[in-house]
Amino acid sequence: MCGIVGVLGKGPVAELLVDALKRLEYRGYDSTGIATVADRGIERRRAEGKLRNLELLLRSEPLPGNAGIGHTRWATHGKPSEANAHPHMTGDVAVVHNGIIENFRELKAELLAEGAPFTSDTDTEVIAHLITRELRDGKDPIAAVHKTLSHLQGAFALAMIFTGHDDLMIAARQGSPLAIGYGDGEMFVGSDAIALAPFTDNIAYLEDGDWAVINREGAEIRDQAGAVVDRTVTKSHAAGLVVDKGNFRHFMAKEIHEQPEVVGHTLAHYVDLANYRVSLPDLPFDFSNVSRLSLSACGTAFYACFVAKYWFERWAKLPVDADIASEFRYREIGMEPGGAALFVSQSGETADTLASLRYCREQNQHVLSVVNVRESSIARESDAVLPTLGGPEIGVASTKAFTCQLTVLACLAIAAGKARGTISPERETELVKALVEVPRHMAEILRDESPYEALAHSLSKARDVLYLGRGTSYPIALEGALKLKEISYIHAEGYAAGELKHGPIALIDESVPVIVIAPQDELFDKTVSNMQEVAAREGKIILVSDADALRAGCAVQTRLAVPTVHPFVSPLVYAVPVQLIAYHTAVFMGTDVDQPRNLAKSVTVE
Ligand code: AGP
Repeated sequence: MCGIVGVLGKGPVAELLVDALKRLEYRGYDSTGIATVADRGIERRRAEGKLRNLELLLRSEPLPGNAGIGHTRWATHGKPSEANAHPHMTGDVAVVHNGIIENFRELKAELLAEGAPFTSDTDTEVIAHLITRELRDGKDPIAAVHKTLSHLQGAFALAMIFTGHDDLMIAARQGSPLAIGYGDGEMFVGSDAIALAPFTDNIAYLEDGDWAVINREGAEIRDQAGAVVDRTVTKSHAAGLVVDKGNFRHFMAKEIHEQPEVVGHTLAHYVDLANYRVSLPDLPFDFSNVSRLSLSACGTAFYACFVAKYWFERWAKLPVDADIASEFRYREIGMEPGGAALFVSQSGETADTLASLRYCREQNQHVLSVVNVRESSIARESDAVLPTLGGPEIGVASTKAFTCQLTVLACLAIAAGKARGTISPERETELVKALVEVPRHMAEILRDESPYEALAHSLSKARDVLYLGRGTSYPIALEGALKLKEISYIHAEGYAAGELKHGPIALIDESVPVIVIAPQDELFDKTVSNMQEVAAREGKIILVSDADALRAGCAVQTRLAVPTVHPFVSPLVYAVPVQLIAYHTAVFMGTDVDQPRNLAKSVTVE
């Protein structure tokens, strides 16, 4: 994840910016930079590699100015280099950015046609040129930014400074978190409270769609329409922490809301966003030479494997064995030497998954792992690692790690299809574009949690809850049931909707909520039949869909709206509603959401 900081100080800010960036190093980065408003206009210093390199540069080339912004970059568009490091600027404005501008290609083409002098491969630079165009059109910086924001599509956080404006900083939030720090005659902006802890503990968090006009007296926060809104200033306790809850009640809530940002980051690590192509590091095997792929994991990570099974088999025509690791490790199946085995784990320390990995090594398999903790045991014992860039996941219930795992596995499935000649360049563009839109769709769902808070009241009374889904929604039904039971302690079960008549329908009566995961895809009508079977037996249907309740043709107690998305990415997007159902039910029931009873974040024993 990139890190953003901004300071309107009483004195020179270069060192303050570097101090704040040091507290964002935990997010991972490959280059850094700062820019300030100096007498001669905006000045900038950038360096590839660690923050130390920037500090050395500043020692030889100090940066004056009492207003400035800074950035730690994790390369998305364009390789790690000084030229691609933020801030990006023109003679009028400098900007730092965290996230993805989905439509940057079209905007860049338009600006290039107007002669804008681009100097980087990044999507961020488009923002600097758009604002400059508006300024040159005669708008003041506030109007220029407001107009520019209306052109941008995607999930992002921004901070901007302007030539000739020593007491102005503008910040904007669309999917990626951003905090404002209130000092005494100084003001600050940061990706989180941790970055701002050295300066202030008075923090306000921007909501999605907010943008803030900041001077040393304070901040005027506006919504997307430009109306002034009020965001509460709270006392942060982030001073001593490396990770903190921000303005969320629980780490789980924060991590659910981080998904637009971290899924966007993970995606940008595995795709060439400029050309909508997957671009993976070298793998220990060639997908065109393997006849089967073995996937193994536990819990939520297993459900990510289960979704991936559908993707590999449908898009790469590659048969997949997806196994729960605690079963796989004892089955002692014979495996063709030189085969491919993939392991998924947030912690990278799950005992059963590690044991399965070791079994596959003994069977002379090529071992690939998808982990969130790069220096973990599973990562160390793999031939190659594909990291999820989820950042630390503190809540025991896995949320952002799951959707980042799905992101990596989706890119891998596309790469497999390309290698096996089952995915054309046009299809690759279609599937990668669908992935690029996921952060925005997730942010849309996260804008309004009130339907989930309302549902929690009725769900909390249930003894048993059934989740149904077909196709890639079936593993999401399993994941939804796991989320609910592990943090609310209500018994829940996920089932393939088509299996209802083979037994589970006996459970249905007016006391059983049935949560149906049903995007309007090719299986939707089949699932409608299952809903009607449930309704005929007084089951209480909660429909999670982009279809309205009328499409169900039966009584639906609650419909949880989801944006219409490409079927390929529905598991990623529909993961958010099932996480929110579980979270709000658990909060209503007063259980320990972040550390549920009997559970550990990483099961390092059998
Ligand atoms: C998920 O919410 C659970 N906390 C649990 O099932 C978890 O996914 C499982 O233990 C696997 O952990 P790992 O991803 O660290 O291997």
